[in-house]
Amino acid sequence: MRGSAQVAQDTERTAPDTKTTKGRASGQYDFLVVANRLPVDRAGDGPKSGWKRSPGGLVTALAPVMEKSDGAWVGWVGSPGEEIEPFEHAGMALVPVELSTNEVELYYEGFANATLWPLYHDVIAPPEFHRTWWDAYRRVNERFAVAVLARAAEGATVWVQDYQLQLVPAILRERRPDLRIGFFNHIPFPPPEIFSQLPWRRQVLEGLLGSDLVGFQRPNDALNFARCARRYGGAGGKGTHLLVGPEQRAVRAEPFPISIDTARISDLARQPEIRERARRIRHDLGDPKTIMLGVDRLDYTKGIRHRLKAFEELLSDGRIQVGEVTLIQVASPSRERVEQYRLLREEIEGTVGRINGGFDTLQHTAVRYLHHNYPVEEMVALYLAADVMLVTALRDGMNLVAKEYVAARCDGTGALVLSEFAGAADQLKQALLINPHDIAGLKDAMVTAIGMPRGAAGRRMKAMRRQIIVHNVEEWSTAFLDRLAEVTHG
Ligand code: G6P
Repeated sequence: MRGSAQVAQDTERTAPDTKTTKGRASGQYDFLVVANRLPVDRAGDGPKSGWKRSPGGLVTALAPVMEKSDGAWVGWVGSPGEEIEPFEHAGMALVPVELSTNEVELYYEGFANATLWPLYHDVIAPPEFHRTWWDAYRRVNERFAVAVLARAAEGATVWVQDYQLQLVPAILRERRPDLRIGFFNHIPFPPPEIFSQLPWRRQVLEGLLGSDLVGFQRPNDALNFARCARRYGGAGGKGTHLLVGPEQRAVRAEPFPISIDTARISDLARQPEIRERARRIRHDLGDPKTIMLGVDRLDYTKGIRHRLKAFEELLSDGRIQVGEVTLIQVASPSRERVEQYRLLREEIEGTVGRINGGFDTLQHTAVRYLHHNYPVEEMVALYLAADVMLVTALRDGMNLVAKEYVAARCDGTGALVLSEFAGAADQLKQALLINPHDIAGLKDAMVTAIGMPRGAAGRRMKAMRRQIIVHNVEEWSTAFLDRLAEVTHG
């Protein structure tokens, strides 16, 4: 959910806001966002340092809504065992939920990221099912729900985010029927044939069905959920209009494709210092004719392996040459204590070493691999430096990097190679759409992207830019919240 998100560390710091409204003074809020993570990171090392806003679209979209409607954000600070009192940052009320070291291991690394994450992403990696992980997931979901209940004013709107917190809606519903409850799933929702593997499938569905509105990235995710809810969650109704319980309460499942803060990325892309930085990046790489770029969290869903394989084959086929084409691969560190992520890192780094060992010259490198987080300014400079952007995810809820690349290409140049298995393919239809499993097709698309005439590239890019200028992240949150108000007769 965190756009350049996971990749960039926003350096922006905002002065602490000491404004106290009536709602804040009473500790009761009319609008609550609940997410696994709070929208802030430590500004420095150690528990004494201050906070800076996290990168990514979600907070950008929701900060103004929270300001307007007297809102608060409930979430984890991202490190274990920290007990922190509610605080304010940049005008947002933040309510920290504590997780112990053991809970981080069982709930976050375990159930969220080694059970649900692979299960919801086409079982690309085998999901693990452990009862101790499930118990921790239930316990932690209960804790998030209790934190919300303590702070929700009568009739408040609560918006629960993502797969880490699927049990929260039903807990809220049971104890506080006055609340208006929305849920948004940022990742794909699997079809019943895969979802049914989950030993706790009924409980997870019942958790989600506590909502009034369940939002998904793609229409098919909403359909998958509705099919699962009818087959395993005891729901009735037709299509994506579900009916639940003896009172036949309505639950809607609908698509709301998330987007980015398009104006912010475009503004950065116009700044002379950032444009100069992009030129410098190209120069430092020896001014190759073409720079290709991949930017991902180091995750097995992103298809980094497939991309490298295609690139390596193009080099050995002689269809591209080192010195003329360079691939920059930014792989930001992620979930490093989870086994599958460790294995992936070893594999990717071994592959990059092999490609560079075989193809580098003393002057030029084939792949410039960077296992780092970068500030958003540097990300935009990279987008500007890249002639071709490679998004080859095997499965991805949305993929905001694809949208950020388009937002940065203000002059209409550049080519986007985009996996049809990323949600962004629904909106960025003029990209070179590929199936990343089809290595021959991927190679051809990469060559087409390298050689695409300016006019054709410009027409595609302009059409994609129009899409994300209209459909930005603010439009996304407004659409969801308006619909939530509508379905609850607000
Ligand atoms: C995905 C998920 C988010 C998550 C992010 C980063 O985008 O949808 O919920 O926050 O990845 O992963 P992390 O495990 O570091 O929070």
